[in-house]
Amino acid sequence: MQTFLVTGGAGFIGSNFILKARKEQWSNIINLDKLTYASNPQDLEELQNDPGYYFVRGDISNIELISNLLEQQRPDAIINFAAESHVDRSILSPQAFIQTNVLGTFHLLEASRVYWEKLSPKKQEQFRFLHISTDEVYGSLSPTQPAFREDTPYAPNSPYAASKAGSDHLVRAYYQTYGLPTLTINCSNNYGPRQFPEKLIPLIILNALNRKPLPIYGDGQNIRDWLYVEDHCEAIYLVLQKSKIGETYNIGGNNEQMNLAVVEKICAVLDDLVPKSNFRYSSLITFVKDRPGHDQRYAINCDKIKHDLGWQPKENFESGLLKTIQWYLSNPSWVEQVQSGTYRTWIQQNYTDRDIACSSH
Ligand code: NAD
Ligand code: TYD
Repeated sequence: MQTFLVTGGAGFIGSNFILKARKEQWSNIINLDKLTYASNPQDLEELQNDPGYYFVRGDISNIELISNLLEQQRPDAIINFAAESHVDRSILSPQAFIQTNVLGTFHLLEASRVYWEKLSPKKQEQFRFLHISTDEVYGSLSPTQPAFREDTPYAPNSPYAASKAGSDHLVRAYYQTYGLPTLTINCSNNYGPRQFPEKLIPLIILNALNRKPLPIYGDGQNIRDWLYVEDHCEAIYLVLQKSKIGETYNIGGNNEQMNLAVVEKICAVLDDLVPKSNFRYSSLITFVKDRPGHDQRYAINCDKIKHDLGWQPKENFESGLLKTIQWYLSNPSWVEQVQSGTYRTWIQQNYTDRDIACSSH
């Protein structure tokens, strides 16, 4: 069986990928994670006696640690999920985004290049460095512009998007310059189980259950494409197995939604699953001060991955949202744990200045 080195595997997408990879016996996994606020090692507790899973706490910027790990564990592929991933945090404190997303990816690439150059020709040919990036590198679309394609020019607008764009360029350069067999995925907004509740969907689910305001930035007309995390994990594995090296794939859920509609749909599901007499969850909707530089619309054209590799999303938004909400309802101890401590400080920092109670729906 192959071995994948997964970075950032204690975060949202990485933990879903690792659980699926072990369940489906795709590969053995080494998980290297710094364990920042966004991580949740509890997600992977069920693997603690799994001989095909090995966890290392560490930073992708630590080139010595990565080099030793690569020499000892000799993985067949590296999947780089590790990143600072939240736009609002990048607006309040951008430095960590440059440190991990740009410099960290550079150090990881450099250690990978040195490791790869010493492999046998056969192993060199089989090796892959798969970088997980975002559609936000392409900037913002108007409501009528065509969806992002792989050849859409980069135009990042937030420090987060700019740092991911920088990392994508480095990955490209390592392929072009050194021949490192890289692959890049630019995906849309993921949602599903185990997402940290700073992001829209889990934040709204948990605020609603606690009868707290449901903050909508600006007029709520911004559009995102929503990709169910398990569909994304399957696409990652497919790209790793089947893609030619040096390729980039855009991955989305074929599912564009206005933010206000997303929040209303969550409220409607909760009205069904957790009804309260004389109360509708949508009464908690509260319009708040907009995010600076807020991108209007993201949309993904998935034709390339569909044509080249035959992938398309299985989940539609109704089924994916229902599964997601049911997961949060069934895992109160997870919720309690992530909402303690520094999470509260973040909520305070991000929402206090937004005049949260100024206008209700
Ligand atoms: P996340 O914030 O939930 O998890 C990130 C993980 O990386 C955490 O476990 C954290 O501890 C770890 N990490 C951070 N800095 C590190 C470092 N220097 N060294 C090692 N580990 C470090 O993120 P996510 O939502 O799972 O996203 C994973 C990847 O997918 C990111 O690269 C992100 O940019 C990209 N992406 C995410 C989405 C989304 O909707 N979640 C959409 C598009 C792209
Ligand atoms: P988010 O989940 O932070 O992802 P991204 O910024 O990477 O797209 O936000 C999704 C959308 O929801 C985005 O348009 C901002 C908006 N949003 C709100 O309206 N209220 C909130 O409290 C949050 C966190 C996001």
